[in-house]
Amino acid sequence: MHGVYHQLLDATIGHLESLRQRGVRYVDVSPESLSRLSKPARQKNTAVPLGQAEQQRPDEPSVCDSPQLSADEREATMAKLCDEALACTKCDHLVSTRTQVVFGVGTVQAELMFIGEAPGQDEDREGEPFVGAAGQLLTKIIEATELDRDKVYIANILKCRPDTPGKVYGNRKPRPDEMETCFPWVKRQIEIIQPKVMVALGGTAVEGLLGKMTTGITRLRGNWQAYRGVPVMPTFHPSYLLRNQSWVIRRHVWEDMMQVMQRLDMPISEKQRGYFQRR
Ligand code: URA
Repeated sequence: MHGVYHQLLDATIGHLESLRQRGVRYVDVSPESLSRLSKPARQKNTAVPLGQAEQQRPDEPSVCDSPQLSADEREATMAKLCDEALACTKCDHLVSTRTQVVFGVGTVQAELMFIGEAPGQDEDREGEPFVGAAGQLLTKIIEATELDRDKVYIANILKCRPDTPGKVYGNRKPRPDEMETCFPWVKRQIEIIQPKVMVALGGTAVEGLLGKMTTGITRLRGNWQAYRGVPVMPTFHPSYLLRNQSWVIRRHVWEDMMQVMQRLDMPISEKQRGYFQRR
């Protein structure tokens, strides 16, 4: 029941934010709706995919119920977790093909966390998420919000590059069993950082974070979701943007990012609001 409450609350917030973006200042709300909205949830929030009747992940406490760490403790805990992840050998097939484990990059003080799918060839070589072509586009998107890569945290659902047997080049999507095996790492990263907002880049990242969805990324994007109380904005993966240069798709991603900026109380300039307006 509490899942449905948060699902509706997030959908309402998303809807109100998109109205505000379109310049709407006031909405009519009946006293009954207002009173229902103001009731606190009886239990803690968990991952609640919109458009889904059942939760895919078992009840887990809210991320903000994880220990509150000082800045130094966060650094130390993340460094220890990184050491453990770098030594991970849970998936034989990935261990035998990876160059290195790609743990994550950015600041543990980040309010905003990006979750991608899995390292590609460039990331496997460099040991850092999103350094290839898709990564350069992600960096541009981050910078368009007036943030920098080192002011956010970037991690993937899978920490090792998915193997591509019989092929030298190319990528493949992580399999559900691989995502499930690897999930504890990103879960701990989220608990340590306790971001105010997360952006899930593409359908696979959404699935890894929130469980199998009945709604595809095209319909899901732009609609707030929640992972254990942390608001999650699903949007298109930058590599999809590279493959599909459509102005509409790029505008959608920017609208999603503006919702994120609003949720973080970041200023949005007229110039930023105007990106992708003319046409
Ligand atoms: N795509 C991802 O999802 N993650 C990366 O790190 C690179 C490309």
